[in-house]
Amino acid sequence: MRLKGAVVAITGASSGIGEATALAFARHGARLELGARRLEKLNSVAQRCRQAGSPEANVRLLDVGQRAQARAFIAATLRDFERLDVLVNNAGVGWMGRAQQMPEEKVDELVATNFKGIVTTTQAALPWMLERRRGVIINVASIAGFRATPYSAVYAATKHAVVGFSHALRGELSGSGVKVCVVYPYVTSGTEFFEGMGGVVGPQHPAAWVANLIVRTARFPRRDAMVAPIRVAHFAEPVFGGLMDHAIGEVRRRSLRE
Ligand SMILES: NC(=O)c1ccc[n+]([C@@H]2O[C@H](COP(=O)([O-])OP(=O)(O)OC[C@H]3O[C@@H](n4cnc5c(N)ncnc54)[C@H](OP(=O)(O)O)[C@@H]3O)[C@@H](O)[C@H]2O)c1
Repeated sequence: MRLKGAVVAITGASSGIGEATALAFARHGARLELGARRLEKLNSVAQRCRQAGSPEANVRLLDVGQRAQARAFIAATLRDFERLDVLVNNAGVGWMGRAQQMPEEKVDELVATNFKGIVTTTQAALPWMLERRRGVIINVASIAGFRATPYSAVYAATKHAVVGFSHALRGELSGSGVKVCVVYPYVTSGTEFFEGMGGVVGPQHPAAWVANLIVRTARFPRRDAMVAPIRVAHFAEPVFGGLMDHAIGEVRRRSLRE
């Protein structure tokens, strides 16, 4: 896909991976619809996108877990630009701790934001894309989408749901001209993701890497897009899965000082 002039809608564009992705698409001359809950931050991202080369960058107040708002975000994109070439479902939240102690409202928030939101925006975007037989839907999962991470059980479950939904939908849409792709970030620096979760241990990659991977995936759509170290972990999972449950559990127990 040619990105110059293409219309890209990004959820969760006010910080981290979403912000870096907006800027990366802007540098290719894409027109942007940016959604998140913090308008002030979104406005600052949009301004930098225009400076970086986006001919048009609009912002929309969006709580993706609210179905009406998620549908309205897609409707606004189609109203503003009369087209939608790429939908990046990136908005997401985490929570770290023992599953048995996770507050109910946090469970609901993670499921609504990380999973239900993707279903709603996708359902809203598909009629337009299918009618024109083109479009790319990129869902931001996580390494936790195939390597379930102890102490973030519900988060891992939502990301498994994202992967399952995306792969099944990809099959439903084969031959339709609409592509569904999954991107799997690892621990990513330059994001607000781990704020209030006791910090991060271990290797990290910058948000710009993930953003570039997302842009590459829009240009050359593929089922699963992973940076190289994640691909290795993916291959190792069926063999070393049990060992990794134990090892990651141990590391996290230490970092949470349990
Ligand atoms: N950082 C990592 O290590 C990592 C690793 C693997 C996967 N990921 C995934 O990458 C994605 C982006 O996260 P990030 O790392 O960039 O973290 P981040 O800096 O915290 O960004 C999360 C974004 O999602 C938005 N958001 C949260 N709840 C929302 C809601 N209900 N409605 C609309 N927008 C919402 C936030 O904006 P507002 O608060 O303004 O709404 C923000 O723009 C997430 O799906 C996350 O699961 C991150």
